[in-house]
Amino acid sequence: MRISVLNGPNLNLLGQREPEVYGRTTLAEIEAMVREAARGDGVELAWFQTNHEGAMVDAVQGLRGTADGALINAAALTHSSLALRDALLAVRVPFVELHLSNIFAREPERRHSKIADLALGVVTGFGPQSYLLALQALVGRLRAA
Ligand code: DQA
Repeated sequence: MRISVLNGPNLNLLGQREPEVYGRTTLAEIEAMVREAARGDGVELAWFQTNHEGAMVDAVQGLRGTADGALINAAALTHSSLALRDALLAVRVPFVELHLSNIFAREPERRHSKIADLALGVVTGFGPQSYLLALQALVGRLRAA
């Protein structure tokens, strides 16, 4: 099973960026945790981060034929990007939306996701563990299908 993890803008700064909101774990450390869990599950993992909306759209388009499912932390694009939504509608790859912080407990503009209704489900608020919970949920759903 092939799973791609797509990370959006500013997630490259995890560890330094607003640690009171996002914690001190870096994206590289999260990637290592997720890779280890994926290996244990027999999952082939691809990992991607971009600060650019167009590159995120390209990455979603690239999922077709290369991934059985995806974990997506679209960061701020979650709340703003109709282009990301359109790409997900075009590609129709099963995905879990995830966030480190609980977006529903934050500012009003973060409480809406433009992609959540397209997702199998949403994991939000568990810090780095959100990635592991989302992986577990996606693998379970893909294996059950
Ligand atoms: C985030 C939440 C978003 O609102 C924010 O723009 C991010 C990170 C999270 O993982 O908590 O950059 O997706």
